[in-house]
Amino acid sequence: MQSSLKALLKELEAFGRQHDSASAEHGSRMLNITPDTGEFLTVLIRATGATRILELGTSNGYSTLWLAEAAGSGAVVTTVEFSPQKTALARTNFARSGLQERIRQIEGEAGAYLAGCDDASVDLLFLDSERRAYTDWWPQLARLLRPGGLMVVDNAISHAQELAPFMQAVREQGGWSCSLAQVGKGQFMAVKH
Ligand SMILES: C[S@@+](CC[C@H](N)C(=O)[O-])C[C@H]1O[C@@H](n2cnc3c(N)ncnc32)[C@H](O)[C@@H]1O
Repeated sequence: MQSSLKALLKELEAFGRQHDSASAEHGSRMLNITPDTGEFLTVLIRATGATRILELGTSNGYSTLWLAEAAGSGAVVTTVEFSPQKTALARTNFARSGLQERIRQIEGEAGAYLAGCDDASVDLLFLDSERRAYTDWWPQLARLLRPGGLMVVDNAISHAQELAPFMQAVREQGGWSCSLAQVGKGQFMAVKH
């Protein structure tokens, strides 16, 4: 990783910590993934060779930068966020990173976006958005991930109760291999057979 990108990630980590501890309103917090989750995603992306990546929940783009760096040039990381303020912050961070060529920003509601995606058009899905909606989104998520593709879900330990119905639905679906990793806030992973 280039030292300028490392420095930007460190800056965003400090900003996220400071901003979130001072911010009373949940919706305005950055709620970034932890740095070890960024490293974990990097290993997953490099090991699987994923180049078509879809992230739900951009915030200010911290996790997107990890995904885009790992995916390499020629890859496309599509990231969806419904807050115009956060989308604008992310745009600035992407421009500063030099990785903006491989990032496609969608400002909009994630569920509505999923409905328009082609079947089997995504290699790796990263869910870090409205957790209570994942069960409703599941048919679309399962449809747009390619066979052999990987879904990674953040907050699987920090918000285990909230995510329990979704994780159960995935495990009971059949045709998926699942695992829970104790990395960051907990990463639930499912590979589509
Ligand atoms: C946990 S934060 C994402 C953090 C980001 N992945 C990171 O690590 O830097 C969740 C984000 O999802 C956005 N969000 C929540 N529900 C959404 C929805 N239905 N559609 C689009 N964005 C949504 C929120 O505005 C928030 O910015």
